[in-house]
Formats: sequence, structure tokens, C-alpha cells
Amino acid sequence: MRIGITGASGFIGRHLTASAIGQGHAVTAYSRRPGMGLTQPKEAPHALPETPLDALVHLSGESLMGLWTPEKRDRIWKSRVDFTEALVAHLGTWQPENRPKVLVCASGAGFYGNSGAIAVDERSPRGEGFLADVCAGWETAAHRAEAFGIRVITLRTGMVLGRDGGALPLLRRLFASGLGGRLGSGQQWMAWIHVEDAVQLLLKAITTASVRGPVNLCAPEAVTNAEFTQKLAAALHRPAFFHAPAFALRLLLRGMADEMLLSGQRVTPRVAMEIGYGFAHPTLSDALASLV
Ligand SMILES: NC(=O)c1ccc[n+]([C@@H]2O[C@H](COP(=O)([O-])OP(=O)(O)OC[C@H]3O[C@@H](n4cnc5c(N)ncnc54)[C@H](OP(=O)(O)O)[C@@H]3O)[C@@H](O)[C@H]2O)c1
Repeated sequence: MRIGITGASGFIGRHLTASAIGQGHAVTAYSRRPGMGLTQPKEAPHALPETPLDALVHLSGESLMGLWTPEKRDRIWKSRVDFTEALVAHLGTWQPENRPKVLVCASGAGFYGNSGAIAVDERSPRGEGFLADVCAGWETAAHRAEAFGIRVITLRTGMVLGRDGGALPLLRRLFASGLGGRLGSGQQWMAWIHVEDAVQLLLKAITTASVRGPVNLCAPEAVTNAEFTQKLAAALHRPAFFHAPAFALRLLLRGMADEMLLSGQRVTPRVAMEIGYGFAHPTLSDALASLV
């Protein structure tokens, strides 16, 4: 297949590019930044140069890490919802034979909001909050590509675990400094996935013609934050005595603390199971053992 990837310079994009090339696909990797050795869009980030594609994987987006000031929220929204709207409109200007047959657009498990201990799958309704609003707007923008006969898949991704990106390198440093510990009550659920599974499940969704709509990119074993902390401490052979109280996290990180650290989702990857995807790392202990 000919696969285009936006955000190819990022954590998931780099792994996806390597795996797709390894499987014999031809990859066009896009980056907004010059000097990356990647294909640069023309006048604006959404203006991908027209080239025949079988699939387009759209991973671009402002990092969610950091203080969610009004300006940061604006960048998070615009780089996802507005960018995806513009990208889809741009694809409409391509010759029909060049347009990708399938558009895979990133989204997040944050779509489900703070769903507590209730298990959620792809049929569950959206949740409340800024992140849920962003994910819902992002997915709606992607689905507009269906008007051009494009199959659309949205990836409701949990925390992606890898050595070279995402949250794990930072967590390792915290635990190494003795600052590892649960966040708030530790009872919030965490959806996670090993980066290798994230990429292989994404590629399987592309090649499985029956898959359209949301796909939970999450391992089958969701854990609470307390369990995650204990398993990471065990894998690193480090203590996890530290406890970050909710009020301190809120004071430091404001909205980001509530939506990303103190709340969570108990996500079931129903579509992955329906299409018979075999997780290489179905349990957290196994995933961490392979990464640390
Ligand atoms: N990693 C996770 O745990 C996780 C979990 C859930 C959802 N996701 C979603 O999956 C997608 C990929 O994740 P990732 O971890 O690979 O992200 P990442 O490492 O932060 O990479 C995202 C890429 O997006 C581009 N980008 C950054 N800021 C941008 C902006 N303001 N406007 C437009 N493009 C911008 C950059 O590419 P260029 O500068 O080269 O164009 C960057 O390499 C993201 O949309 C993320 O929200 C990730």
C-alpha cells in the first residue's frame, strides 16, 4: 500500500513509519518542519502535495503535555479539529483516483471523559470535558471525508508506552529519583497500549475492509493508577512511596491535572477483539518488562 502519515516525526509516527516500511508499504511521511528530511506540506500544514495514496494516517496535534493555559487549549483545539477539517476539505480538491481509500485519524480514550469504573467500548457515548469535546470535534471533522467515499477510522488511543516517547520516559525519571507514586486517590482507571501493539493494530485496521468508525487503541487489561504505579515500581525495582495529592496536582497543572491525571477510562478494545487482533503485550507487567 501507499501510506501517507502526518505527524510522522512524532512518537507514534516514527514507529508507524518504521513498521510500515518493514512490511513493504511505501510511506510518504509529512512534517510541517523543514530540515526533517520529510515531505513538507505546501502553504499550510493541511495542504499535502497531491500524490496517489491508499491510506492516510493523520497523527498531527499539539502536545497535550504542559500547562493548559487558554492559548495552549486553543492550540490543542486548532491543531486537531480545525486542522482535520481543513485537511479533509483539501483532500476533496484531489483527483478522485488519488484520494486515499481510508483515512485513519488519531483521537483519544479521553473521548469517554471520566467514565469511572464503568467499562466503556466503542459503542459507549462520549463523555464530558475539554478533552472529550476535542476528541468528538476531531472525529466529526474526520468523518466528513466519507462524503468523498473515503473509509474513516478514528483511533481512541490510551497512554502509549514506549522507550522513546510518550509518558514512560518521564515516569522512569521520576521513579529513578524516588518521586514515583500514585496520583490523587489512585483509583482512576488508565487505558494504555504498548507502542508495538498500537502500530500493528492500526495497520490491521487499515487492511481490514470491514473496520470503520472508532477503534479503541488500548490493551485488554485496563488498570487503576494505583496498580499501574505498583507494577511500574516493580518493573523498575524502585520504591513508589511518593503520593501526589490531587490538590497539589490541580494547583500545579490546573485543568490538565483533572482531565489527564486524576480521571480516566476503563476501556475495552472491542473492535480489536472482533477482528481477531492478537496483542503482543496484553498485560501491563508484560509490556513494562519488554520496555524497562
Ligand atoms: N502518545 C500517546 O500516548 C497518545 C495517546 C492518545 C492519543 N494520542 C494522539 O495521537 C497523535 C500522535 O501522538 P504522538 O505521541 O505521536 O504525538 P507527538 O509525538 O507529540 O507528535 C505529534 C506530531 O504532530 C505535529 N505537531 C506538533 N504540534 C503541532 C501543532 N501545533 N499543529 C500541527 N501539528 C503539530 C508534529 O509533527 P511536525 O512538527 O513534524 O509536523 C509532531 O511530531 C496525537 O494527536 C496524540 O494526541 C497519543
